[in-house]
Amino acid sequence: MITTNPFSELSEFIAPLTMQIYVILMVLMVVGGTILDTVHKKSAKYFFENSKKAQKNAKHSVSSGEKASLALKTVANEVLTSGEFSNVQRRISHLFIMYGFIFFVVATAILIFAYPTPATPAPTALPLLWHLGALMVCFGGYWFWFFIRVDVSAEGYPWYRLSRADLFIVSLLATTTFALIWSALQAASVAGWETLFFVLFITASTVLFSTVLWSKFAHMFFKPAAAFQKRVTKADGSRENLPELADRNNPADRDRHSMELLKDAPMDMGLGIKREAPRHY
Ligand code: HEM
Repeated sequence: MITTNPFSELSEFIAPLTMQIYVILMVLMVVGGTILDTVHKKSAKYFFENSKKAQKNAKHSVSSGEKASLALKTVANEVLTSGEFSNVQRRISHLFIMYGFIFFVVATAILIFAYPTPATPAPTALPLLWHLGALMVCFGGYWFWFFIRVDVSAEGYPWYRLSRADLFIVSLLATTTFALIWSALQAASVAGWETLFFVLFITASTVLFSTVLWSKFAHMFFKPAAAFQKRVTKADGSRENLPELADRNNPADRDRHSMELLKDAPMDMGLGIKREAPRHY
């Protein structure tokens, strides 16, 4: 099953052109949803106004060379390795979900456009990538859903409580889960169930790609820009109007009124609120 192209068998019932039009429609929905999201939340306007404000408050200018280096650091850290997550489990789960989704989407597009029928057999690596991607999303996603997300790990809500904020993760998990079940049933030639799970797979994927305006889908495009801007505000000293981090080794900081109580405190005061995870429900 894992090395079989599920779309090639499907071409007996659904024309490859129909599948290709569906993929194009989904891409257009994501592009349209992201643009509408930007307009609706005025996020682009806010982003540019904020960056202008930061430029005004800048203590030193950042050269284009420095900006290029900050962009590279953003790609290497926040984008490619989910460096914004300080919780290691969340970071690993996000890496599985992110790379799994990329593998799954890229493999789907290549299989449907380049190898749509049994007459055009796909190299084994592609269906393998499709299945592996779906499995990675399921692994990272169910781990996140049942154990890691704040609602269950810190707020004490049961895993089955749903809210609109869950639209993205739920439709993403439904898409990859139903895709895998559909492919397994296809390999086992269980006709009726196979059709049912194919319909569920397409329904879930349509929900995933058509609800960008209301879900967290577009964060994958916005977060890199926000992470880059954050690095710039640190480099130019504007620091989003936040004060410099206090350093008690520095006498000027130590003698500030707000630091009075801490004057004689030891430099290392332990883990503080990180001492224990919130699990008292
Ligand atoms: C294929 C691309 C990606 C996928 C499938 C993906 C998936 C996810 C999922 C499922 C969540 C949890 C959402 C929830 O709370 O329901 C999440 C959160 C997050 N993602 Fe991604 N992500 C992707 C790309 C990115 C990129 C490129 C970045 C950063 C540059 C990023 C940064 C974050 C951050 C910081 C959070 C936590 C913030 C929050 O809870 O609102 N993600 N992502």
